[in-house]
Amino acid sequence: MTRRLVATDYGSPAQVLSVIDADDPVAGDGHVVVAVAAAGLNPFDVKRVQGVMSTDPNALPLAIGGEAAGTVAQAGPGTDLVVGDRVAVYPVSGAFAEQIVVDAAAAHPIPDGASTEAAAGLLLAGVTAYDTVATLDIGADDVVLVHGGSGAVGSIAVVLAAARGATVIATASQANHDHLRDLGAVPVAYDGDLAAAVADASPGAITAVIDTVGTDVAIDVSLQSVSPDRIVSIAAWGRGDDGIVLLNGSSESSRANRRAAVAPLLDALADGQITVDIAGTFSFDDAAQAFDALDGRHPRGKYILTP
Ligand SMILES: NC(=O)c1ccc[n+]([C@@H]2O[C@H](COP(=O)([O-])OP(=O)(O)OC[C@H]3O[C@@H](n4cnc5c(N)ncnc54)[C@H](OP(=O)(O)O)[C@@H]3O)[C@@H](O)[C@H]2O)c1
Repeated sequence: MTRRLVATDYGSPAQVLSVIDADDPVAGDGHVVVAVAAAGLNPFDVKRVQGVMSTDPNALPLAIGGEAAGTVAQAGPGTDLVVGDRVAVYPVSGAFAEQIVVDAAAAHPIPDGASTEAAAGLLLAGVTAYDTVATLDIGADDVVLVHGGSGAVGSIAVVLAAARGATVIATASQANHDHLRDLGAVPVAYDGDLAAAVADASPGAITAVIDTVGTDVAIDVSLQSVSPDRIVSIAAWGRGDDGIVLLNGSSESSRANRRAAVAPLLDALADGQITVDIAGTFSFDDAAQAFDALDGRHPRGKYILTP
């Protein structure tokens, strides 16, 4: 049997999360079974459990978890992977399980030099960040404003934009300003007059905005600086009428960007260009603590779940 973390209903994680036993998965053609060592927790998982995305009773018990890492335990016919390979798994649904069966195309070898735990928390945020930077075609002439530059997506977006030679300014809490400087961004506080703080920090006219926060003030300040088509947001779902570019991986170009991102992100993790800070590691049995922490103000870094 394999242990799976599921939600038996929608609501508070402490009340609805449950660890259940399920049949061991079997790897068919083109598929692999991965023994999960670690899985990354993302805001999307929290919102799904809370019923923010849907409260469909037919989806219960709800399989949760959008990324994981571990070792190949079974390799079906027609795959290049072999038992024992260390892989990061993305995309996947139901990653919070001891063993998962996935299309081999979603199991990506982890290069030497990258830890399994960091790889488990890299790809969902990483491909999203890569998508924002690629969609804006950020280059050396850009001055980029990143809202939420200390978050999982925002911090990788800062690194990728800076690596393209752009000047980057990014919002974060004061406690994360040194970290933003380390990543190559000019830090900006978001708790005062945001427009004035951005204007003070910016060495030139802003040419592009990456929003990972979705607040009205973040979008309003952005619209004062650039045209809507130079603002991409992964969170401001209520502001589509402003003409900004909303990205969730559903468009053809967004899907292509995210596919293209996986190998370079894993390489960047291995060579240290990207780091994945770990805010905390929790077993499936204690997972509600991680869900609750991610739902509020939380220390920088990813929450990792282990079977
Ligand atoms: N559309 C997509 O494809 C997609 C994909 C992944 C994630 N998302 C969404 O993107 C959002 C961010 O995800 P994440 O994984 O990066 O979350 P995260 O790691 O929790 O980061 C969120 C960051 O936002 C910052 N923040 C909070 N309030 C803020 C404010 N008022 N102004 C500026 N920054 C603020 C926090 O910075 P401080 O701690 O420094 O205050 C925090 O680090 C979530 O809503 C998530 O659901 C969307």
